[in-house]
Amino acid sequence: MDMGEKYEGAPRGLRIGDTAPDFEARSTIGPVKLTNFRKRWLILFSHPADFTPVCTTEFVALARQADDFEKRDCALMALSVDSLFSHFAWLRMIRDRFDVEIRFPIVEDPTLVIGEAYGMVSPQDSDSATVRSTYFIDPTGVIRAMTCYPANMGRSIPEMLRMLDGLQAIDAENALAPANWTLGEPLLTPPTQDLDEVFAAKDQTAWFLREASRGKRK
Ligand code: BEZ
Repeated sequence: MDMGEKYEGAPRGLRIGDTAPDFEARSTIGPVKLTNFRKRWLILFSHPADFTPVCTTEFVALARQADDFEKRDCALMALSVDSLFSHFAWLRMIRDRFDVEIRFPIVEDPTLVIGEAYGMVSPQDSDSATVRSTYFIDPTGVIRAMTCYPANMGRSIPEMLRMLDGLQAIDAENALAPANWTLGEPLLTPPTQDLDEVFAAKDQTAWFLREASRGKRK
């Protein structure tokens, strides 16, 4: 069976630059509609299941750093196949056990209609759980970055914040973020497209590898 046959009928999956598909669903803060979250950044993320060890650590860590997302004008929205009442019971347990209240919405997606539209469910999966997909959606509703972790590996909250800082800084400065960049470090200037500048550059790399101004939080 070739790859074309294997994936026939499966959703293409979303790509960077696509508009995040809109949806309306029940959530732990009431009904939500994705497009109502425009004008701010939004991190939409899926988790495999409520009441599981790695997911619990992720939610506790996110709730403890909720202010860091607020400072970056970024809302959080979680999603899994579990029912609204399962989400409620899990949040109550997390509050009682870890002394932290999760106030960002957790969406229920029992039919996986949202998970499938976003490609959060692997076509090969035997169960119907979503994997740890994360979508960084800008204030115009465009998906700017995506990550996908397996069920047995928890996400890094500092890396989520670094991604957000990077996306916001490259927009503000029309620049590029180098490897391991963090807020306050120099960004890079997009390379010239002018051959005269290439020949005029002071050395072999100056025309394409140059520091730009420092990324600043708006
Ligand atoms: C977890 O969150 O710990 C988990 C969820 C699904 C499968 C395996 C682990």
